[in-house]
Amino acid sequence: MRIENTFGIDVQCRELITYDSEQALREALKRIHIQYKGLPILHIGCGSNLLFLNDYNGIVLKSSIKGVNLLNESDDEVLVEVGAGEICDDFIALAIRRGWYGMENLSLIPGQIGAAAVQNIGAYGVEACDVIEEVKGISLTDGTAHSWRRDECKYGYRQSIFKEELWGKYAITRVTFRLSKHFVPKLQYGGLIKAIEQAGFSEDTLTAEQLRQIIIDIRRAKLPDPKEQGNAGSFFKNPVVSKEKAEHLLSKYPAMPHYPADEGRVKLAAGWLIEQAGWKGRSLGPAAVHDRQALVLVNKGGASGHDIQRLCEAIKKDVADKFGIELSPEVNLIDNWTIGQSDN
Ligand code: EPU
Repeated sequence: MRIENTFGIDVQCRELITYDSEQALREALKRIHIQYKGLPILHIGCGSNLLFLNDYNGIVLKSSIKGVNLLNESDDEVLVEVGAGEICDDFIALAIRRGWYGMENLSLIPGQIGAAAVQNIGAYGVEACDVIEEVKGISLTDGTAHSWRRDECKYGYRQSIFKEELWGKYAITRVTFRLSKHFVPKLQYGGLIKAIEQAGFSEDTLTAEQLRQIIIDIRRAKLPDPKEQGNAGSFFKNPVVSKEKAEHLLSKYPAMPHYPADEGRVKLAAGWLIEQAGWKGRSLGPAAVHDRQALVLVNKGGASGHDIQRLCEAIKKDVADKFGIELSPEVNLIDNWTIGQSDN
């Protein structure tokens, strides 16, 4: 069965199972453990942050657990539990309509709610972990239910416990968000205030709907639509370097974008580094670097996972040679022996 992925890579798995409830997931797991004993299980969302290097010789699970349940409400905020299979951007649009604020800056990020909690998606100065209260999941090994408070999720920049020590061990089933009933726009991210002026809006009277529209317009202008050109958004993480390293680079490249990060470290813009290394808009076979945002790698048509990986390695080498910086992918690379191999 073909595995959905926004890179548009043609990959197959043994079986793709979509489930719509915790009970259905438990039943599917029981069957998998009997029928496919020993084969790996991979849980995907919309496949918007995955690069498959081979066919996947295992079972792929996908959630379609839906539902938006208001758990608690005060004058100031709401606690809302959302099914992991809901589309993240649909929930953001709904939240804004209901007057629940905090996620506007994450508008139009592709993917499901469960994947947002795993990946700690972020954009324009907001990360999912800013509004996540609790994450619920089910063990892929024995079907038991678990929950994690936000502080147990070990959130960091595009990082969480679910991407590290718990990778491949749980299916996220539901995520609880704490959202505000008061709209306080977060506009500190470079370029947002200018975009508001250009759109003819005022910072003082800005509404959540207007901010959402501005974010959507910026994303549409910079990021390719996977329906038109296969891609997985930012391919690399923005690297975080020591203050000394950043100062050394800034003395050579004064225009280099840089932002304060945790513990006195400095975050650099991988897109800028890749552009300076001469890769923006360039191709390597059927894989290419997007011409409007160098952090995005695209499938020009018919690329395999290995074609994209070759481009990734060539970029990494040139950025390391020029700047002494090791880029690491933000996208999860999925490697697994091909389906035929285990049949012998
Ligand atoms: N830049 C260049 N050349 C490029 C791309 C960027 O010089 O080709 C420079 C820009 O001019 C700017 C700086 O790099 O000074 C940062 O660029 P931008 O604001 O476009 O954001 P980014 O750091 O490239 C990150 C996220 C995006 C997110 C935006 C906005 C990561 C890996 N990427 O990109 O997230 O939308 O900020 O918050 O952190 C994603 O994760 O898939 C994603 C798209």
